[in-house]
Amino acid sequence: MLQKPRGTRDFLPAEMEQRRAVERTMRETAARWGYGEVCTPTFEEIELFTLRSGEGIIQEMYAFEDKGGRMLSLRPEITASVLRMYVNEGRMLPKPVRWCYYADCFRYERPQKGRYRQFWQFGVELIGADTAAADAEVIMVASDILAGSGVTFDLHVGHLAPMKHLLSGLENGIQRRMMAYLDKRDFEGLRVFCETAGAAGRYDALVALPECRTVEELRDLCGNLPELSRIEDVVGILDAEGLTYTPDFGIARGLDYYTGMVFEAFAENLGAENQICGGGAYRLAYLFGGEDVPSCGFAIGFDRVLVSLGEVAGSRPVVTSVLYTPAARQQAFAVARQFRAADLRAEMNLIDRGIGAQMKHAAKTADFAIVLGERECQTGTVTLRNLHSGEQRECTVDDAIAGVKAFGSC
Ligand code: HAM
Repeated sequence: MLQKPRGTRDFLPAEMEQRRAVERTMRETAARWGYGEVCTPTFEEIELFTLRSGEGIIQEMYAFEDKGGRMLSLRPEITASVLRMYVNEGRMLPKPVRWCYYADCFRYERPQKGRYRQFWQFGVELIGADTAAADAEVIMVASDILAGSGVTFDLHVGHLAPMKHLLSGLENGIQRRMMAYLDKRDFEGLRVFCETAGAAGRYDALVALPECRTVEELRDLCGNLPELSRIEDVVGILDAEGLTYTPDFGIARGLDYYTGMVFEAFAENLGAENQICGGGAYRLAYLFGGEDVPSCGFAIGFDRVLVSLGEVAGSRPVVTSVLYTPAARQQAFAVARQFRAADLRAEMNLIDRGIGAQMKHAAKTADFAIVLGERECQTGTVTLRNLHSGEQRECTVDDAIAGVKAFGSC
């Protein structure tokens, strides 16, 4: 038996219904904030991702050469594509540009619960505004979308400036390694690495960073950095808006393009892969041939949100099974059409079998059966049977539709 590729999943209709419902609420929330949906290609020139996405992502890419000898990659994330699209199509648009997307990404990671090789992201990008209000808006949109999905989460908001200040003067590669240790809160790993990199003197300040909760504490640790007033402004807006979050200056993010404010959200009931959203302020457009436009955005790990929500019993639409004798087939098609025109789900029997076998199948799959035999065809009526209670009556098609609707609305 052939199996699906490792790290991918199949979704049955019940799961798809839940996914579509969550997707719809996310889209609607984004739209209320003014974000219009865009769509970019599933694969891109490999360069788009190697320019700035960072080591981790490059090693995980599904890269390939096409028949024309072009080096391409399935998208490991969508921000780079959206910024490429902005440079190609959106430069003349009035700023800021507010775009959102929902699409699948591909990363060659070791699969486990909440970590897949094909996964979906719902994200937004705010392009062309470099203000505290823009940073705050993006954080609030993320919080609003997550809350709307029903997931319970902790939001952590930080800024890269204090960490970069504490690492300044060190070689880029060393800085990145230290940021990764700090991001994972691997203080022991950080201590050993600081010693081997000849930077043991930086350790105490670095481990104190994630403990800072206020701008005053940051000032004590890092001195009077120019970015502190921006941090103060963002925090001021979030507090005035009543957002619940934790200031966290230990966030480094896994991608290399971030420049300022960064934030992440974590779901409470997931294991190791509990980060359900990540984002921040970044610059990418200039790398793709555009101006140096400031941007800010985030992506929600849609699949992790669904794992966190667990199975939710959806409101199953009422199903009517249309059963008929061979002579009544034409009539059955017409009745099913009238049910669908009334916005009801009607399923025709498609397999040649007797009314008894049809009824057995209907009892397993539907709420109602419409039976059409010779008598019903002659009188232009139908027999409507409630498959839950066993009650049945002969009536007109309109009455049957009204009866099924009444059941659906109770
Ligand atoms: P990211 O943190 O790499 O950021 O991914 C965003 C979210 O996607 C993560 O928080 C996580 O929930 C989910 N995710 C990542 N990898 C996997 C995986 N293998 N399986 C399931 N879920 C996963 C970005 O991708 C940035 N483009 C976010 C952004 C937008 N920054 C600015 N704008």
